[in-house]
Amino acid sequence: MLRSEKTMQEPLFTHTLPHDLVSLSDYERYAASHLPAAVWEYISSGVADEHTLRNNSDAFARLSLYNRLLADFSQAQTRTQLGGLSLNSPLLLAPVAHQQLIHPQGERATAQGAAAAGVPMICSTLSHTRFADIAAEHDQCWFQLYWQPLHETNRLLLQRAEEHGSKAIVVTLDAPVQGLRNRIQRSGFAVPSHLREANLRDLPVAGPKPLTSQDSVIFQGYMADRPGAEDLIWLRAQTRLPLYAKGVSHPDDARILKDLGFDGLIVSNHGGRTLDTLPASIDLLPDIRSAVGPNFPLLLDGGVRRGSDIIKALALGANAVCIGRPQLWALAVGGALGVAHMLKLLQQELEMNMALCGCPTPDDIGPGVIAGRV
Ligand code: FNR
Ligand code: LAC
Repeated sequence: MLRSEKTMQEPLFTHTLPHDLVSLSDYERYAASHLPAAVWEYISSGVADEHTLRNNSDAFARLSLYNRLLADFSQAQTRTQLGGLSLNSPLLLAPVAHQQLIHPQGERATAQGAAAAGVPMICSTLSHTRFADIAAEHDQCWFQLYWQPLHETNRLLLQRAEEHGSKAIVVTLDAPVQGLRNRIQRSGFAVPSHLREANLRDLPVAGPKPLTSQDSVIFQGYMADRPGAEDLIWLRAQTRLPLYAKGVSHPDDARILKDLGFDGLIVSNHGGRTLDTLPASIDLLPDIRSAVGPNFPLLLDGGVRRGSDIIKALALGANAVCIGRPQLWALAVGGALGVAHMLKLLQQELEMNMALCGCPTPDDIGPGVIAGRV
C-alpha cells in the first residue's frame, strides 16, 4: 500500500504485535513506513543540518561499558528516588506535543500504555488532549508548561495541573523560538486545523503585539514573550509541586536555575530540534552534574534508545532519563499496547545491562561502568 492511501491515525497493529518488534529501532522502522510522509518528517526531523540530532545517539554509541562479574543480585531492583518522588525505574516519557497526529486517542492512549508499564508521563501544554483527561488514565502524570504571554494563563494552567494530580511541573525554556526545521519546511507540514491544543482552548490569550517595521518578529516578537528571571521567580511562588526546568545545556544556567529555587533540571537539546550543533545531551551532562552538586535531581533526554543508554546516563550523573520520539513510534505502530510494550522492552534491556555491568540497583551505577572514565 502506498503511504498516501493509509489513514493517518489508526495504529498498524491493534491486538497482537509482530514477533520482529524487539527493539525501539524496530518501532522506528515500522512507524516510518506507516505514517504519512509529512507527519513522519514532523516527528523525526531536527533543526537545520541535524548535527545535534545525529550526535545525540552517536555520542551514546561512542561510550563503552565494562562487564563486571561478581556482584550479588539477590536484592537487585530498578526502583529509584527522584527528589521526593519514587520511580519504578529511572525512566519517564518526555513531553511530546500533538499526539492526535499519530493516533485517534492521542495522549490518552500513550497514558494508558505508560500506566500499564508504570512509567510516569510528562504531558505537554500543546497536547491534543486536556491534562485532566490524560491524568484520568494515569496517576503519574507531570505537566509541562510552555510559558504563555499572560501570567493569568500560566496561573490557570498550573492550577488545573495541580487540581488533576500532577506530580511535578516542568517548564521548557529552550524553545522560545522554534528552530528552523528545514525538513519540516520542505515537506510543507502543518498541524491540521481540526486538531486543537486542548489545554489552551478556553484560556485568555494576549492580543497581537504592536511591532513596528523596524522590529524583528524574533527579537521584539517571540523573545519578548519568553519568561525572564522575574517570571521564573513568580512561577516558583505559584506552586508547591516539584518544579523542573527543561532544556538546560550550560552549567551557568544550571547554577542560576538551582539558585532561583528549581527542584531539578532536564538536561536536553530538545531532541536536536532547537539550536543545531548543541552538544549531544550525554556530553552536556557531566559539567551540569558538577555545577549543581551531587544531590540535585537531574534528568536527561535526547537519543535514549537502549537500556545501555540509560546506564550511561546514570553513570555520568543523571538520576533518570526521558524518552521522546519512541513513544510516538510505538503509538503509531501499536497504540497503548505498543507504548506499554516499547517501555517493557527498555525496562528489560535496562535490567539485562545492569546484570551484565554488575550494578544491582541504580545507585550502584557510577562512572566506573564506563571504560576509560575511572
Ligand atoms: C518534542 N519535544 C517537546 N518538548 C517539550 O518540552 N514540549 C513539547 O511539547 C515537545 N514536543 C515535541 C514534539 C515532537 C514531535 C518531538 C520529537 C519532540 C522535545 C522532547 O520533550 C524531548 O526533549 C526530545 O524528543 C528528546 O529526544 P528524543 O528522545 O526524541 O531523541
Ligand atoms: C516541538 C515542539 C512542540 O519540538 O516542542 O515540535
